Amino acid sequence: MAFGKIPRFSPSFSPREALLSARYLLRDGPDDEIIAKFEREFRSYIGSTHAVMVPSARYGLYLLLQAMGIGAQDEVIVPALTYFAVPAMIPLLGARPVFADVGATSHVLDPAAFEAAITDHTRAVVPTHLFGTPCDMDAIRSIAARHDIQVIEDCAQSTGARYRNIRAGNLGDAAYYTFGLTKNMTTLSGAMITTDDDAVAKKVRTSIQAGGRTPKQKLAKEAATGFAMYVATHPLVYWATVHPAVVLGNKMGQDPIHERFGEAEVRYDHLPPHYAATSQARAAQAAVGLAQINRLESLNGARIRNGRKLDAGLAHVPGLTVPTYPDGAEPIYMSFVVHHARRDALAGALRQRGVDTTVGYMSDCSSNPLFAEFAATCPNAADAFAHLLHLPVHPNLSDKDVAHMIEATRQSCLELG
Ligand SMILES: Cc1ncc(COP(=O)(O)O)c(C=O)c1O
Repeated sequence: MAFGKIPRFSPSFSPREALLSARYLLRDGPDDEIIAKFEREFRSYIGSTHAVMVPSARYGLYLLLQAMGIGAQDEVIVPALTYFAVPAMIPLLGARPVFADVGATSHVLDPAAFEAAITDHTRAVVPTHLFGTPCDMDAIRSIAARHDIQVIEDCAQSTGARYRNIRAGNLGDAAYYTFGLTKNMTTLSGAMITTDDDAVAKKVRTSIQAGGRTPKQKLAKEAATGFAMYVATHPLVYWATVHPAVVLGNKMGQDPIHERFGEAEVRYDHLPPHYAATSQARAAQAAVGLAQINRLESLNGARIRNGRKLDAGLAHVPGLTVPTYPDGAEPIYMSFVVHHARRDALAGALRQRGVDTTVGYMSDCSSNPLFAEFAATCPNAADAFAHLLHLPVHPNLSDKDVAHMIEATRQSCLELG
């Protein structure tokens, strides 16, 4: 907080990793050996038998569902509060996404809502460890086992989180993760699936190997963007350039960061063919992944320390609700979300105090027009979509930053009444 301004996020990507990517992108060496090494390290970190690099988490889910033989007439239960690209994969296989509500304050899949959504056609459930918070997996697994339902964990926001001392991703039949630049660990772009099921892993790998390599040009662009994010969130640069732009944009009713880096709504029927064509990773991604996985415990540790301080410091602020965590969940605080009836006003008041926030990119998919055919009533997801605000919780925050955020949030809430 050297210059009194706190960015909404700061990448885990370092200049050393930018150089590493450049080195691997510039050479013509083989890709497979280092990819296999990264997959080995990753599966040993998670504790699973297999790990396969895939180009995106959504395509990983698509391939897992396909490998499990899920298709026409089948139903897959997903939490209503999620990233729209997740349920979007399901109709592409001829199956139906069925939306179940999330907990009112945990924001992750509510086991009772999951159970109520089960029909004779239910084949799989996707417990999404949203914001870094593991779901109530004891309840979800026991319901799934009773109904013979496959459990595919969405770990896109929770790489490294634990539940009852077991890593997320090792609590169901299969899991997927994602490593974009804004995640807690990055491989520039790309993702991973893990499973203990030999046949499922083999099918996913066969599909991936049928495609081409991710273009180097795309990865070079990602590396440059990652480095630009690193520079832009340096305290002095951020204070002098980005924060004033965000404040100005806000005055004009815009959010320049969201517009540049936000997730565009994509026509979901275009996605799998797009990913299939360039499905195989490059050595540069694996090299960055290996460097990042070595730092993951320390990066997550910093998030956890910041998150716990925010939990404690904001527990009794009038008008504000902090998250709750299922019993046994050990979150990694990928995001720290607060609930406020006037969340946009709160965001404005915080920005005036030097703290940038975001509303994130989750939606209530049960009422999202994209899924009109599968609409359901999920009041907690609707409430979260309308009222959650993400406070900064990234590893580059100092103790002073966190203390300032707590004080700024308290004052802003008192001011809003
Ligand atoms: C909860 C969740 N699931 C899935 C995804 C999809 O990841 P990808 O963009 O790699 O497909 C995301 C994206 O960040 C996400 O936040």
